[in-house]
Amino acid sequence: MIVATQAEAGTDPVAERVLACASCHGAQGQGTDDQYFPRLAGKPAGYLYHQLVAFRDKRRKYPPMNYLLEFQPDESLRQMADYFASQHPPLPPPAAPTVSNEVLDQGHALVTQGDPQRGIPACERCHGPSFTGMEPAIPGLLGLHARYIAAQLGAWRYGTRTAAAPDCMQIVAGHLTEADVTAVAAWLSSLPAPANALPVPQGSLAMPLKCGSEPN
Ligand code: HEC
Ligand code: HEC
Repeated sequence: MIVATQAEAGTDPVAERVLACASCHGAQGQGTDDQYFPRLAGKPAGYLYHQLVAFRDKRRKYPPMNYLLEFQPDESLRQMADYFASQHPPLPPPAAPTVSNEVLDQGHALVTQGDPQRGIPACERCHGPSFTGMEPAIPGLLGLHARYIAAQLGAWRYGTRTAAAPDCMQIVAGHLTEADVTAVAAWLSSLPAPANALPVPQGSLAMPLKCGSEPN
């Protein structure tokens, strides 16, 4: 467990509130060793805010988080989203792949080129050429464990995670097979940190589909 040691925790109400998040997400939202707990640090604030609202309103389900956020007003969620978006701890070292090189190559090809015949756009067209996300509401995909990425893609495929309509990720994930999910999750989690880990500016990518959560 990671314990926050910020001296200012007692005086800054937001820093104090996010102490409740540290055991699972790290004090700066850097993530932990747990294969299912995601990194939050440096993701666009709009993205993090949408997720907090979704957990509070139980459109995204994970009981400990649903419970923690149950009575939080929008303003409080926005402050926590801003807090984690403004944290920039270093990315963790990439995971040692547990799949064959062939599977990694398949993941690489899907993420960077997509598969037009199967209606799969390249992930980098929305998540950015270095997978650092785009302001204000598309998350970076770095520093996440393969198991977490695979679980999220599975949740979209099975309809237990949804985003604002049109839900572009549901369309993308709907075209992926179980084997595709394993391959893209393995490849993404094996990436080293880029020189610049900041999300790219709003509107700087020509997205192949419209996403309800991302204004254009
Ligand atoms: C008991 C562990 C635990 C605690 C405590 C916890 N979280 Fe989480 N959090 C998770 C897990 C696990 C997920 C992924 C759940 C899923 O989608 O299945 C998650 C997901 C999230 C996400 C979405 C991340 C993304 O990239 O989509 C945000 C944002 C978040 N948590 C913020 C918080 C905040 C803020 C707090 C403190 C108020 C908090 N969490 C406390 C375990 C925890
Ligand atoms: C058309 C744009 C678009 C494309 C193409 C796209 N994504 Fe996404 N992705 C999004 C948006 C928008 C979100 C945030 C949805 C939300 O608010 O929950 C997202 C969220 C995600 C998340 C959740 C991250 C987290 O921290 O929970 C994962 C994982 C993901 N995408 C993986 C992929 C993969 C893998 C591909 C390629 C196979 C891909 N995406 C292609 C727009 C896109």
